[in-house]
Amino acid sequence: MKKKSSNKLWGGRFSEGAHPLLEEYTASVHFDCRLAPYDIRGSIAHAKMLHKIGLLSSREKNALVRGLKEIEREIEKGTFRFDPSLEDVHMNVEARLTEKVGEAGKKLHTARSRNDQVALDFRMYVKEQIEQVTAHLHALQQTLLGLAERNREVIFPGYTHLQQAQPVLLAHHILAYVCMFERDKERLRDAYRRTDVMPLGSGALAGTSIPIDREFVAKELGFSRISDNSMDAVSDRDFAIEYLSALTLIGVHLSRLAEELVLWSSSEFGFIEIGDAFCTGSSMLPQKKNPDIAELARGKTGRLLGSLVSLVTTMKGLPLSYNRDMQEDKLPVFESTDIVKATLEVFAAMMETVKVKEESLARAMKGGYLQAVDLAEYLVKKGLPFRESHNVVGKLVAYAIEKRKGLDALTGEELRQFSPLFAEDALRLTDPAASVRSKTSYGGTSPGSVAAQIRSWENRLSRKR
Ligand code: ARG
Repeated sequence: MKKKSSNKLWGGRFSEGAHPLLEEYTASVHFDCRLAPYDIRGSIAHAKMLHKIGLLSSREKNALVRGLKEIEREIEKGTFRFDPSLEDVHMNVEARLTEKVGEAGKKLHTARSRNDQVALDFRMYVKEQIEQVTAHLHALQQTLLGLAERNREVIFPGYTHLQQAQPVLLAHHILAYVCMFERDKERLRDAYRRTDVMPLGSGALAGTSIPIDREFVAKELGFSRISDNSMDAVSDRDFAIEYLSALTLIGVHLSRLAEELVLWSSSEFGFIEIGDAFCTGSSMLPQKKNPDIAELARGKTGRLLGSLVSLVTTMKGLPLSYNRDMQEDKLPVFESTDIVKATLEVFAAMMETVKVKEESLARAMKGGYLQAVDLAEYLVKKGLPFRESHNVVGKLVAYAIEKRKGLDALTGEELRQFSPLFAEDALRLTDPAASVRSKTSYGGTSPGSVAAQIRSWENRLSRKR
């Protein structure tokens, strides 16, 4: 009696069909369908290569290319029906192709395994996403630069430990984020180099006896290199981990910016106002205007780190070469990509609407002690060792606190009670603007230094990435 056999593309050695629970548990097509455009491009290149080495006739190759392009259009139009019982995107495309072009479809998988196929598709996806995320970073940098330019004279209380530390230019503070996002671009560029390696032709793990032309495929698909070791090629997900780690750092930077926006827009700080279009109200409290976008960006950063930890953990115990565990690589990468792109996009738009409230900034610094180290450096220039001048000014600050005055309200007489080295010109240093003007060291916050930074970013950001 003939047994019911498997209807799977891999069903030859199976005598029983798959249990529905297996199909449901192992299927990935509901998420890896995102790889379809890359899968199709990869298959077209593979078909052309098989033709080049004489394994497909021109007619077969043309039928395959035509069929694959039709499938691409079906997917774009939304008429393609992804079937979970066919497991993944690769099998879905191949099955439909065979349905369309018949025998030639069955030849496409020659010298190819899903193991090198999925590695190829995933690398193509990550390469493209790196380019898109980089473009979003670039746009946000440009917005931040604009904000710095519009506020290039605004003086801002700089903090350490969230305690007022020294006056800085707001533009200087904002440009610090432009620097962070530049490093993020560099990290992505670096990860790109290692992603840009073409794995197809590694087969399941050992390579193939068929005389394939891997360089041809790499060229067709715009890869700079081909992988050197077939086992490494199907086992390696380092590129995805590096990409996730770069995305996580972008999230960390966005989250720090978000935290500052939340603080600065609170009634207590009142330093900025975010445009109404980028804030939400409260269902109960009529007066509320909440910085939800910033809060969500801060919150979503947890998920970015989660994705990174998830993939590192998936990979850490796997023997070579491919293991099905690796199918779990895609969701974290898709999720982090979506979060980072959406956050960068909304931040670029939101930062355009940020208004700086200069009076609140001046009020926050008035009567404070942010210029203390300027007075200490004054004494250093008069010959006092810094440790001593630190101590003198420390006592001066304690005195001022007791008298309920800020440094800006002290007289020359009062200063001289603490050191005879103080002349009347020391009083000028208690003006935040003078304090900022004096920070002329390279990379410091003086107007000249900040203007140079702005010019340099204008230059760098106007060039193509
Ligand atoms: N869906 C699989 C994945 O994403 C494709 C590779 C499957 N390979 C295999 N031998 N079952 O990893």
